[in-house]
Amino acid sequence: MLINPPGVDTFKPRTLRPTRPTFYVREVPVYGDALLAPMDGYSDLPYRLICYELGSAMSYTEFTNADGILQKRWSDSIAQKLKFDAAEKPMTIQIYGHDVERLVEAAQRVEQLNPDIIDLNMGCYVKDIAERGAGSGMLRFPERIAQYFARVTRVLRVPATGKIRLGWDDTLYNYLTVAKILEDNGASLIAVHARTKAQAYHGHANWDAIAEIKQTVKIPVIGNGDVKTVADIARMKEYTGCDAVMIGRGAIGNPWIFSGRDRDQVALAERVALLRRHLALNLEFYGQRGGLILFRKHAARYIAGLYGAAHLRVPLLTAESVQEFDDLLGQYQTDAHEFVQREHTALGLAV
Ligand SMILES: Cc1cc2nc3c(=O)[nH]c(=O)nc-3n(C[C@H](O)[C@H](O)[C@H](O)COP(=O)(O)O)c2cc1C
Repeated sequence: MLINPPGVDTFKPRTLRPTRPTFYVREVPVYGDALLAPMDGYSDLPYRLICYELGSAMSYTEFTNADGILQKRWSDSIAQKLKFDAAEKPMTIQIYGHDVERLVEAAQRVEQLNPDIIDLNMGCYVKDIAERGAGSGMLRFPERIAQYFARVTRVLRVPATGKIRLGWDDTLYNYLTVAKILEDNGASLIAVHARTKAQAYHGHANWDAIAEIKQTVKIPVIGNGDVKTVADIARMKEYTGCDAVMIGRGAIGNPWIFSGRDRDQVALAERVALLRRHLALNLEFYGQRGGLILFRKHAARYIAGLYGAAHLRVPLLTAESVQEFDDLLGQYQTDAHEFVQREHTALGLAV
């Protein structure tokens, strides 16, 4: 059980999760309207727990390759991606692949782990994946999407859902067709990253398209793209009418967004306590060495923009041991405290 690692007792989650369901994925209740996006390399079990405790309404695993799932013995990487904590509710396992038959088989296999929902990734833009018809490559073959959902919803106990982009490119902007196909073939929810595959992360997410999808289907719609602040969550909900908002990049180094607070509203002591807790979870999950190395990218984002971060960054990100990392953090906290106190007081922010 990863919920309370020893020695890290200063972390105080403050969740705003409502007591009544905000919406349902078929019969599965979802409490809240903001959730952590699936992000390969980021939304692993340790970080999902951090976000969940702060109020993220649902958990999605990182996307997991159907072919890897169908191996007789799972690699360590596949097994790690598929692990989740009983506290994460609802828990969604996300899979990807291009072959309908194998995707259905993979969905059945991961259902044995008892997730609440199984999601199909139709958004990944990475060349190797998309060009062989997986991830966003599925959007070029709507008939495969129809076949997958028609079949998978017959064989699964749990709801099947899909995460899409708006299309392959400007010439195949087929999100409404795909959304209808999902609904007509039994999908229980659509999450939409409001860009095409060709856009990758360029330009702005097209929130009008999310609104159109919401008006077209009756199943719940999760909007996604360019939400960076607490105010953006409300803006996207209001603009699109979506049932919930999924936050990716804006939640890296900023899990407080799920508790209704932006980065600058979080006191340094709380930030450092959460960094330590996240590191402790990482060490427990990945082991001492791997846990520290995999934590570096998170640490860089936690400290970005902080007073003195430029000086802290290199030593912190090259620390060779947990002790060294922790000492640097402690020293930074002492040095920064006085400055931050003055600065925050002057700005009227929490200290
Ligand atoms: C590093 C990274 C990894 C991602 N991995 C996944 C993934 O495994 N599955 C998925 O559906 N989307 C993945 N995405 C896309 C995000 O879920 C999300 O759709 C996208 O980042 C847009 O939302 P944002 O503007 O809030 O970041 C990933 C994004 C990033 C930045």
